[in-house]
Amino acid sequence: MPNNTKWQVLTALLLLGFAGAFLALWSQQSTSANAGKAAPARGLSSANALAEMGVTTVSATDTDAAAAQAAFERAYPVFVSPRCQNCHPSGDAPLQGDDSHVHAQNVKRGTDGHGVYGMRCQTCHQDANLPGANMPPGNPKWGLPPPQMKMVFVGRTSGELCRQLKDPKLNGGRSLAQILTHVAADDLVGWGWNPGDGRTLPPLNRPDFVAAMQEWVNDGAACPN
Ligand code: HEC
Ligand code: HEC
Repeated sequence: MPNNTKWQVLTALLLLGFAGAFLALWSQQSTSANAGKAAPARGLSSANALAEMGVTTVSATDTDAAAAQAAFERAYPVFVSPRCQNCHPSGDAPLQGDDSHVHAQNVKRGTDGHGVYGMRCQTCHQDANLPGANMPPGNPKWGLPPPQMKMVFVGRTSGELCRQLKDPKLNGGRSLAQILTHVAADDLVGWGWNPGDGRTLPPLNRPDFVAAMQEWVNDGAACPN
C-alpha cells in the first residue's frame, strides 16, 4: 500500500472509533435518563398524580407469582370494605352504611349508572359531602358503574375479584397500568378516604393500598387461587 493511502485508512479508522465511542456513551445516557421514569400513563395529570403517590413504574419487571398473590391479598380488604363495595354491588341498587344495606328510596342504577328518571343520583348527591350524620355524600361523578360493565366487588373472593379486575372485557378495557392509575388517581376512589361524617375508612390508608397494588402489578399480577 502506498504510504499516502495507509494514512488515509488509519485516519478513517480512528474517526470511526471516535464515532462509535460517542454513540455508545450517548445511548447509555439516554437509557439511564429513561430508567425510573413512569411508563406512559394516560394524560399528563394522571402521570403527575402517580408521581405524587410515589408510583414510579408500572411495568412488570420480575414476575413472582407468590409475591403478587400476597400483594393482592393485602389490597383486597379495601375493595370489599363498605366505602368501596357500596358502589360496586352485584344487583342494580347501590348500598349504604357500614352494613351495606340496600339504598333507601328504591334508588336504581339506570342505563348510565346515574339513576333512573326522577331519581337521579345528582338530585341528592352534590359535588361534595354534605356535613352531618346520614347526609348524602358527594362528588361530581357520583354514580354506579354502567349496567353493561358492573364491576362487581360484593361477594367476590380475592381470586374472583382479581381476575375480574384484570379482564379487559369486564374492566372497561383497562390495562394493568390504567388500573393502577385508576386506584391511585381517580377521585371516586379517593372519596373512600374522605367519606363524610360518621363513615368508617377502608382498612388500609390510600398510599399503602396503592403500594400493594403496584407490587401486585410489578410482580406480574398473578391472582390468588
Ligand atoms: C360513588 C360510587 C363509587 C365509589 C364510592 C367507588 N367507586 Fe369504584 N367505580 C365507580 C364507577 C362509576 C366506576 C366506573 C367508572 C370508570 O370506569 O371510570 C368505578 C370503577 C372502579 C374501578 C375500575 C374497575 C375495574 O374493574 O378496573 C376500580 C378498580 C374501582 N372502581 C375501585 C374502587 C375502590 C378501591 C373504591 C374505594 C376506595 C371505589 N372504587 C369506590 C364508582 C365508585
Ligand atoms: C333521594 C335522595 C337520594 C338519591 C336519589 C340517591 N341517593 Fe345515595 N344516598 C342518599 C343519602 C341521604 C345517603 C346517606 C345515607 C346515610 O348515610 O345514612 C346516601 C348514601 C349513598 C351511598 C352510601 C355511601 C356509603 O359508603 O355509606 C351510596 C353508595 C349511594 N348513596 C349511592 C347512590 C347512587 C349511585 C345513586 C344514584 C343511582 C344515589 N345514591 C341516589 C340519598 C340519595
